[in-house]
Amino acid sequence: MRIDRLIRFPHYPLSFLSLCLCGFSFRGAIMNLHHPVTVGGVELPGNLFLAPVAGYSDAAFRSLCYGEGADLCYTEMVSSEGLARNHPKTRALLARAENETRYAIQLFGSKPEVLAQACRELLAYRPAIVDLNCGCPVPKIVRSGAGSALMRDPGLLARIVAAMAEALGPAGVPVTVKIRSGWDEGSLNYLEVASRAVEAGAAAVTLHARTRAQGYSGSADWGQVAALARELRVPVFGSGDVSGAEAPARMIGQTGCAGVMVARGAMGDPFFFRAAIAALEGRPAAPPTVAARAEAARRHLGLAVAFLGERTACVEFRKHFCSYTKGTAGGAALRSEAVRASTQAEFEALLGRWAG
Ligand SMILES: Cc1cc2nc3c(=O)[nH]c(=O)nc-3n(C[C@H](O)[C@H](O)[C@H](O)COP(=O)(O)O)c2cc1C
Repeated sequence: MRIDRLIRFPHYPLSFLSLCLCGFSFRGAIMNLHHPVTVGGVELPGNLFLAPVAGYSDAAFRSLCYGEGADLCYTEMVSSEGLARNHPKTRALLARAENETRYAIQLFGSKPEVLAQACRELLAYRPAIVDLNCGCPVPKIVRSGAGSALMRDPGLLARIVAAMAEALGPAGVPVTVKIRSGWDEGSLNYLEVASRAVEAGAAAVTLHARTRAQGYSGSADWGQVAALARELRVPVFGSGDVSGAEAPARMIGQTGCAGVMVARGAMGDPFFFRAAIAALEGRPAAPPTVAARAEAARRHLGLAVAFLGERTACVEFRKHFCSYTKGTAGGAALRSEAVRASTQAEFEALLGRWAG
């Protein structure tokens, strides 16, 4: 049995995979779970991605994640209606950092013709991938028929994907979808929704294995990721409860998914990518020092100021500061000051104290 077959069909020798993930070798070679993935005609160099995270996965943070080895980073969700109206705040979400040689843009909306028009406009930004949000549980988004509301209307979801694929196909940009398990426990329709999306032209599917009713609490059901990976002929990416550097390797080992998206596990921790890729490749990785983490936060703030201006960047950075310092000695006292900080110099002083 070849190792690549073991990776594709992990349900066969799960115990074997577990041994490899614990560091055992097979004929002297550690299994490498970090590998390129092809989405449509686009080859991604690896299979560990920063998920779309509204309020967090902006150009500044994506830039740091790419610097630490992320294979693809998704923008925050972008309104297709906002693009149609040329809303400046919507356009600002499409800012791209210098080291972003590839990026994925996530759109939300509920009208096929508006999403198709948005896709045509996005071509100017040269995205690697355009993703459709079918998972946002926020009431305002759901009321508009977008986000996780699409899980209740697979026909509309398929029409949207087809319209997006028609707009992007000639330029060779694949459409992907990010779905949830279902609307609630009583309607777990991810297999049907994903199949409809693929029939309509989706080149990959990400499953956040929670229902809309769960929001972001409770456990993600990785068994559903495994079931979807067995079902589809396109790559399946897993999302949900990816926390700790060993989690992506565990998720791939347990589910056979082609790649992993990390969201909350990477907030305030761009080093997550370096550590998780090392784990996927069966290598050890030294944890970053506090000084290195503070330096990353300083660079993050500097980029945010360049993109957003000092005032907005500093307000936004308060939550990032809390993420960076979470769980560190003396962090709580610094955070209580950070929530009032409003200039780059104030944050620099706090970061200096954190680094010691
Ligand atoms: C604050 C926040 C914002 C999010 N924004 C988006 C978004 O814009 N688009 C999207 O598809 N998912 C979004 N998500 C969901 C994440 O991409 C991810 O699927 C989810 O958090 C599960 O992963 P985790 O358990 O590793 O955090 C968001 C999650 C959080 C916590």
